[in-house]
Amino acid sequence: MEENAESRLTSHKVPARLPVQDILEDASAGLIDAPRFMPPKYFYDERGSQLFDAICETREYYPTRTEEALLQVCARDIIEQLRPDHIVEFGSGTARKTRHLFDACDRAGETTSYWPFDVCEEMLRDSGQQLVEEYEWLQVNALVGDYHGGLAGLPPREGRCLYLFLGGTIGNFTGEEAAAFLDEVRAIMRPGDGLLLGADRVKDAGVLHAAYNDESGVTARFNLNLLQVLNRELDAEFCDTNFEHRALFNAEASQIEMYLVSRCRQSVHIGALDRTLELEDGERILTEISRKFTPARLESLLNDAGLAIQRHFEPDNGWFSLVLAGPEGGPVTQS
Ligand code: SAH
Ligand code: TRP
Repeated sequence: MEENAESRLTSHKVPARLPVQDILEDASAGLIDAPRFMPPKYFYDERGSQLFDAICETREYYPTRTEEALLQVCARDIIEQLRPDHIVEFGSGTARKTRHLFDACDRAGETTSYWPFDVCEEMLRDSGQQLVEEYEWLQVNALVGDYHGGLAGLPPREGRCLYLFLGGTIGNFTGEEAAAFLDEVRAIMRPGDGLLLGADRVKDAGVLHAAYNDESGVTARFNLNLLQVLNRELDAEFCDTNFEHRALFNAEASQIEMYLVSRCRQSVHIGALDRTLELEDGERILTEISRKFTPARLESLLNDAGLAIQRHFEPDNGWFSLVLAGPEGGPVTQS
């Protein structure tokens, strides 16, 4: 990397201010007894992050390209309205879609610094290096941490902030987690700041089902990769041919549920827990929920956190929402 680019990339660890469980505690609480559940953050080791990227390229997975097309259309409006000094993105991944906002800054003659916040350190490093090379004015301050640990530990920033939470990741939170997270976001926002939230919408069950059961099997590999993470991190003995991927749409709960289903009766030793997991044929481990919103439900989620809706962008087919919201009470000053 050229020297100038290197000097525009820094990395910080974000200390958790709220209690967060580690993989040992999560496995102990979630794997041994039914109902079995592992939090989705463990998907995203280096291989998992690459597989997620591949999911975004599948024919069936519409959210990424739908959200990207929306961003392409509204980026300029958002940048001109907020003129952010900082763009802070939660669960940034490769930051592929975020480039539309940087391009809009470019065109508006604005500069901004970018604070991608993610658990996956390798992804932050690679995407950060690419971004400082692509945008010669961009300062990137990578934030490594778990956003469930709260946002009070973020480094201080002077000036106006645009917060991004894209990809429908809010749907991977339970209702309680989503409310708590938006409260945290609201607490660090000042008048004039904005939150751009991307959320997936309720739609035809067939379209939803296909998006999480792509024909090429990338989503299945992504789901099964969790077992490799458990083997590595917990000295466990999962054999991935003994499990299959299953994702279904639970219409009543308005959510996709993704499971790893045991294909036989089996015992799996988890070294770090010194316990053995007993699974019946067909028993399942919940690995992810992905909630699908109505526009009203999404807006009330934001309003309940004290955030006022400023814009609500959606495509003609209504498949995805991008909502721009701001802290209530404070005037949205525009320069
Ligand atoms: N925003 C990107 C990526 C979405 S995938 C997009 O829209 O395509 C979810 C991202 O959140 C991954 O990059 C993953 O590493 C990150 N992530 C998952 N759980 C996290 C947590 N608890 N704290 C911080 N980042 C997390
Ligand atoms: N935020 C994405 C979503 O809910 C995450 C995701 C997409 C995902 N496909 C997945 C998570 C497959 C696990 C498995 O749509």
